[in-house]
Amino acid sequence: MKLINLIIQNAGQILTLKSSQKGPRTGELMEDLGIIQDGTVAISEGKIVAVGKKKEILDQITMDEKTKIVDARDKVVLPGFVDCHTHPVFAETREEEFEMRIKGKSYQEIAASGGGIKSSVKALRSKSKKELVQLALPRLDRMLSFGTTTIEAKSGYGLSLDHEIKMLEVIQELNRIHPIDLVPTFLGAHEVPEEYENRRSEYIKLIIEKMIPEVAKRKLAGFCDIFCEKGVFDIGESRQILTAARNYGFKLRLHADQLSSLGGSKLAAELRAISADHLEFIDDEGIRMMKRAGVIGVLLPGACFGLGLKEYPPARKMIDQGVPVALGTDFNPGSSMTESMPMILSLACLMMRMTPAEAIVASTINSAYAVDKANEVGTIEVGKRADLVIWNVQSYKEIPYHFGVNLVGQVIKDGKVIYVSSSAGGEGQGLRR
Ligand code: NIG
Ligand code: FE
Repeated sequence: MKLINLIIQNAGQILTLKSSQKGPRTGELMEDLGIIQDGTVAISEGKIVAVGKKKEILDQITMDEKTKIVDARDKVVLPGFVDCHTHPVFAETREEEFEMRIKGKSYQEIAASGGGIKSSVKALRSKSKKELVQLALPRLDRMLSFGTTTIEAKSGYGLSLDHEIKMLEVIQELNRIHPIDLVPTFLGAHEVPEEYENRRSEYIKLIIEKMIPEVAKRKLAGFCDIFCEKGVFDIGESRQILTAARNYGFKLRLHADQLSSLGGSKLAAELRAISADHLEFIDDEGIRMMKRAGVIGVLLPGACFGLGLKEYPPARKMIDQGVPVALGTDFNPGSSMTESMPMILSLACLMMRMTPAEAIVASTINSAYAVDKANEVGTIEVGKRADLVIWNVQSYKEIPYHFGVNLVGQVIKDGKVIYVSSSAGGEGQGLRR
């Protein structure tokens, strides 16, 4: 019998996310939270070894004087969020563009006049690896404080062999030194850099012949992504790049149908990508094809909100038609400057009519599937990593309902309490001193 290092007791609700459905949750099963009332979770060597009612569990485990006991005081326990779409490595923020958009310029107009991704590329190229690591650390700390324990992290602001490799090495270093787990994605096809403006086919050749092989050889990323959009990479170019990546063993994902109905969602289905992300402008055929191919729809309402757009992805339609839906922040300096997954849950509920239960499934187990880590994280089940968050709420529905504040009480990562909020925060909880 394993010795227990940490035990969480007296949880009002444990959302285990255990379900009868194997694979990403779809349709009505996106509301399946597997709730245990008055529950206990026992942890040994960073893994969950028992979860259930206190009485059942105490017979199964051994504790000694070193076992840490955490009293959840009737609060809600969730798996840590998996934020399955982020761009956390960048050199400079872009608040000037935020103001330009408020005054009427569009994201595309700003990009066309040298701002946007191109300005982030210029800034990133001038920074060292060490500087970029230092800049990213407080962002990861903020993510953790909002209950995120795993993130997907993209390159895509380097856009040359050396600078893309540098970005992926920064992600690798962050994964080593920060408690958050980072899953790296190669996004060399985020934009055509300025020096290739009139020779885009040469840039595509560089991605296919130099960058993809080198990233694969150094094992710096297991996923390849692309910005498939009008004026960026069209369908033919995207197919060419992603097919090359697939031949090198990369799993695929796409920024698809974000600003126009170009058909990236259909290409994702054709190529059996693991996810198609954004999807503000997906059409009915795209939805049908994604469902048939089992492609996860990663919805990023933070980008709609951050760009001040009215169009949000048709989450209801996608869920009702059986597409597995996941959520991410899309944290980046251009379109979605937030590290907060709870904020994304609020937007998903209010702007896309997802229920609180669907939003939680989409940001835990379904997003774990989107980063191919569902066997390790995303639910509270025996054998999974002990990545758990105790929320200062009595019902999980308060998490999206009480928006714009941080209701996280404690974050447990790999079985260790690594974050405790300074104020208890929740309605009616009062300050805990
Ligand atoms: O996911 N759509 C493309 N990429 C990012 C924006 C990147 C940027 O503006 O720096 C996105 O929204
Ligand atoms: Fe993105």
